[in-house]
Amino acid sequence: MNFLTIFALVLPCIFANPTPIVLWHGMGDNANGLNRIKQVIETEIPGVYVKSLMIGNNVFEDMLNGFLMHPNDQIEFACNLIKSDPNLANGYYGIGFSQGSQFIRGLGQRCSAPQMKGLISIGGQQQGVYGIPFCNPEFLQLCDLVRPVVTHFAYDSFQSFLVQATYWHDALNATNYANENTFLADLNNEAYINQTYVDNLQALEKMVLVMFENDNMVIPSESQWFGFYKPGQGFEVETLQESKTYTRLGLDKLGSEGKLHFLSVPGKHLQFSTQWFIDNIINVHLK
Ligand SMILES: *[C@@H]1O[C@H](CO)[C@@H](O)[C@H](O)[C@H]1NC(C)=O
Ligand SMILES: *[C@@H]1O[C@H](CO)[C@@H](O)[C@H](O)[C@H]1NC(C)=O
Repeated sequence: MNFLTIFALVLPCIFANPTPIVLWHGMGDNANGLNRIKQVIETEIPGVYVKSLMIGNNVFEDMLNGFLMHPNDQIEFACNLIKSDPNLANGYYGIGFSQGSQFIRGLGQRCSAPQMKGLISIGGQQQGVYGIPFCNPEFLQLCDLVRPVVTHFAYDSFQSFLVQATYWHDALNATNYANENTFLADLNNEAYINQTYVDNLQALEKMVLVMFENDNMVIPSESQWFGFYKPGQGFEVETLQESKTYTRLGLDKLGSEGKLHFLSVPGKHLQFSTQWFIDNIINVHLK
């Protein structure tokens, strides 16, 4: 082989751009809160383009919108951001943190172009929550008793002004959840099947779901793996594979193709080390 041949073989490797990455922060945080993660990714994957989504015109609006702007509107806002970014035109990997995980999944499902290529959900409420943070219904009866009351307020009015109410998942009455929830029930194809959602999810190269084993923010914590309470009650949990969501969202196809990855981390909500992120997310799933 002469020099030119070698050069021609090596050249595409040098200039093959790594897949860009889009980050969506969690509740109470803002786009700049992910600067550290962004830097770590940029250091580990030279030349990668990383965009941390800012929902609003500045970090303050961004933080407030995490509480006050309906996720349907947040996703539409994010869709405009990624459509107008030429660096993302050929697709991207999406990484969400906490509630940003289900919002970025919504982006992948609803915003077909540019195409999301991989989804990484870190501590996401993918099946919503039926419980108040730090109030464990298994240990404290009061925590169980207030849940139906929260359902009432969440679906009656809170959803229109409080983001967190839009992923309240009434475990006692599936019909109520499917009909009255204004965000997550739609995203999870509860009332009817939106084929666009199925198609966009099935186009993913991978879906990585990270669960924190001692999470007391997400109730039940299995929601981070798309698990949830078995219908009609609020204690016994079923897995994604046992749930109707598995087929209704078309995740069974991803599963059979080996594209679903379930990771668990000891620790509380979003408590992971930089090294864990490098070893388990960047090196395995982003490179
Ligand atoms: C399905 O989702 C797509 C993308 O969000 C949307 O444009 C379409 O209107 C939805 N279909 C129905 C029947 O709601
Ligand atoms: C479940 O919710 C639906 C819709 O909100 C309601 O019509 C029905 O009465 C509820 N069922 C029970 C058993 O509470």
